[in-house]
Amino acid sequence: MRKITLGIIGAGRIGKLHVENLKGLPQVKIKSISDILADSIRDWAADNGIQNVTNNYKDIVNDPEIDAIFICSPTDTHIEIIEEAVKAGKHIFCEKPISFNLGGTIQVLEWVRSSGVKFQTGFNRRFDHNMSRVKELIREGKAGEPHMLKVTSRDPAPPHKEYIKNSGGLFVDMAIHDFDIARFLMDSDVEEVYVQGAVLVDPVFAEFQDIDTAIITLKFENGALGVIHNSRQAHYYDQRVEFFGSAGSITIQNDNPNTAEVYTQNGAYRDNPLHFFLERYKEAYVKEVLSFIDAVVNDTPVPVDANDGYQAELIASAAAISLRERRPVRIEEVVSGLRQKV
Ligand SMILES: NC(=O)c1ccc[n+]([C@@H]2O[C@H](COP(=O)([O-])OP(=O)(O)OC[C@H]3O[C@@H](n4cnc5c(N)ncnc54)[C@H](O)[C@@H]3O)[C@@H](O)[C@H]2O)c1
Repeated sequence: MRKITLGIIGAGRIGKLHVENLKGLPQVKIKSISDILADSIRDWAADNGIQNVTNNYKDIVNDPEIDAIFICSPTDTHIEIIEEAVKAGKHIFCEKPISFNLGGTIQVLEWVRSSGVKFQTGFNRRFDHNMSRVKELIREGKAGEPHMLKVTSRDPAPPHKEYIKNSGGLFVDMAIHDFDIARFLMDSDVEEVYVQGAVLVDPVFAEFQDIDTAIITLKFENGALGVIHNSRQAHYYDQRVEFFGSAGSITIQNDNPNTAEVYTQNGAYRDNPLHFFLERYKEAYVKEVLSFIDAVVNDTPVPVDANDGYQAELIASAAAISLRERRPVRIEEVVSGLRQKV
C-alpha cells in the first residue's frame, strides 16, 4: 500500500481532531505540525507521534517529503497558505470556509485548476450517516422530484465574544455548512437567496454587525425551494432535515446518545441529542479525512472540491447582501459584481 506523508497547519480545535482521526491510519504518516503557538503543543505532538513541530507553516509547505497538508488555521490565514502549498505541489485539505473573501476563493479555484493538486473543502456533514442516507434515498428517487428542502441548524449556545468578532458572521461561519448540505442534497446550485435575520439571543452579535437568528430561503436552479432555520442558541444541538418531493418526503431527526425514555404521570422525558458538532459529527469527521486520503493515495477525485467551497461562499455573500438590503439577491448578481472587480 502506498503511504503518504502529511503536514498539519494549525493545532486548535479542528487541527487536533483531524490528527486524532488520522494518526492510526496505516496509509498515513503525520510528519510535521505547525502552529504559531508551537511551544504550547510540543508535548501533545510528541504524545501523538509527530516528530516535527514548527511555528512557521512554510517549513511544512517546503518539505519535499510531505505529500499533502491539512489547513486548520484560522480562516484569514488560508489563502496565503494555499498559494504557497499549491506552488510547492502539495495536495490540500482545507477547513471551511476557504476564505472570507470571494476574490481570494476564486484565485484558489484557478490555482487548483492549473496546478492539478487535489483540494478538498472541509464540509464534514456530507459524510454524516443520516445525511448520506438522505442523499442516497433522494438519488434513488424514493420521494420523487425535489420540491422543498427544510434544514434546521441550531447550536446549543453562542460562541464567546472574541470568536464572534473574528468569525466572519453567521452566514460564512455557521450557515455555510447548511448551504453546502442544501446544494449536496438537492443536487443543484442556488439561484436566489432571501434572509430575515435578528439578534434575539445576545446583543453582543449586534456589536459586530452580526445576527444570531435567521430564516434563509433559497431558490435552487432546478426550480425547487429551500428554507434554513439557524439559531446560535437552542440549548441543545438541533440538526434536522426534511426533503419533500413529488412522491413523498424524507426526514432525519437528531442523533441521541441513548434511546431511554422516561414516562411518568407528569409526562415523558429523554436525554438531549448529542451535545454539539464534535459529538454529532464524530464519525463524519473520520470519514471525510479518509475520503481525502483515499483520493490522494489512489489518485481519484476528491468528493468535496474547491468549487463546493466557492458555491457555499457565494450563497453566504448573497445572504449578507439580502440581510443588509432587505431584498432577495440572485447569485448571478454576486458573481457579476465579482467580475467587475477583477
Ligand atoms: N468543519 C468544521 O466543522 C469546523 C469546525 C471548527 C472550525 N472549523 C474551521 O477550522 C479553522 C480553525 O478553526 P478552529 O476552531 O480549530 O480554531 P482554533 O482557534 O481552535 O485553532 C486555530 C489554531 O491555528 C493556530 N494558528 C493561527 N495562525 C496560524 C498560522 N499562521 N499557522 C499555523 N497555525 C496558526 C492558532 O494558534 C490555533 O492553535 C477555521 O477555518 C474554522 O472555520 C471547521
